[in-house]
Amino acid sequence: MSNIPVVVSGMRPTGRLHIGHLHGALANWVKLQAENTCYFFSADWHALTTNYHDTGVIKTSEREMFADFIAAGIDPERATLFVQSQVKEHAELFLLLGMITPVGWLERSPSYKEIREQITDRELALYGFLGYPVLQTADVVLYKANRVPVGVDQVPHIELAREIVRKFSHHYGEVFPEPLPLLTEAPKVVGTDGRKMSKSYGNAIDLGESPDSTRKKIMGMVTDPARKRRQDPGNPEVCGIFYLHKIYSDAETVKWVDENCRTAGIGCVDCKKKLLEKLAPDQERLRDRREAILARPEDLDELVQLGNRKARTVAARTMDEVRAAMKL
Ligand code: TRP
Ligand code: SF4
Repeated sequence: MSNIPVVVSGMRPTGRLHIGHLHGALANWVKLQAENTCYFFSADWHALTTNYHDTGVIKTSEREMFADFIAAGIDPERATLFVQSQVKEHAELFLLLGMITPVGWLERSPSYKEIREQITDRELALYGFLGYPVLQTADVVLYKANRVPVGVDQVPHIELAREIVRKFSHHYGEVFPEPLPLLTEAPKVVGTDGRKMSKSYGNAIDLGESPDSTRKKIMGMVTDPARKRRQDPGNPEVCGIFYLHKIYSDAETVKWVDENCRTAGIGCVDCKKKLLEKLAPDQERLRDRREAILARPEDLDELVQLGNRKARTVAARTMDEVRAAMKL
């Protein structure tokens, strides 16, 4: 056994990634790959829990997602990239863990309640959707993950994973370490309408979106709503453009914005143009990289298939231990 910590995280392939993903999850993954054994996967079965009616987007989203991972700096030689549905052990372990997971734990999960309230246009009182955190537990413990980098909204799922692991250990002995959530310290990124950036709100700036369309979105972005006219002083702390400056611009520029926004020394148009000086080239770089990767689909497929094989080997070994522990 090596002492290198194991890190596992996944994303659901339900559409394009946006710059919120880049500065949240992906930047963190890139750092983690240097000192951990990392597995980053496409949670395509999880995508089905809410998108069972529209499965056509999954495959394309998945390919683009992997291209974005690599464009953002994930090194497939260091981190194993794979597809959940291509490693059947996830399903087997999901089933076995389901035998010991109380329904009450799942019904109490905040995201289960929240998403069922948010999504009202389709049936979600579904067995698979209720079991979402059980599958997520299988995803991570299959690789004996020590740490799971996630956003705050996912922490209850990892807590649940820890409880399931404890219950498993109690009945069958210790096979899995208890995974710890690794809270991604993400800078705040809001969308063009001032709400949290999210593809479901339609307010996202996609990763590697063309500089032209990035420019249009930024120029149209909501700023401090109290700053109605050019001569009104503004409050950068409530403005999405300022958050983006903090990510993209140097300290001097951030200070310049902070001061001149409050005194109405600059207008929002000046402020946005300044932001684009850094943001637009950054988007262009990402776009070039993702397009170069997508232009060679066979290479990308091969790389993911290699990842699938690596993941399967580890997963199969864990399942041998699980079956032995459960006397199956
Ligand atoms: N539930 C996660 C999300 O929606 C995706 C996911 C599935 C995941 N399995 C995982 C994340 C395992 C971390 C570890 O973001
Ligand atoms: Fe936002 Fe900049 Fe306008 Fe201030 S000047 S409200 S920070 S866009």
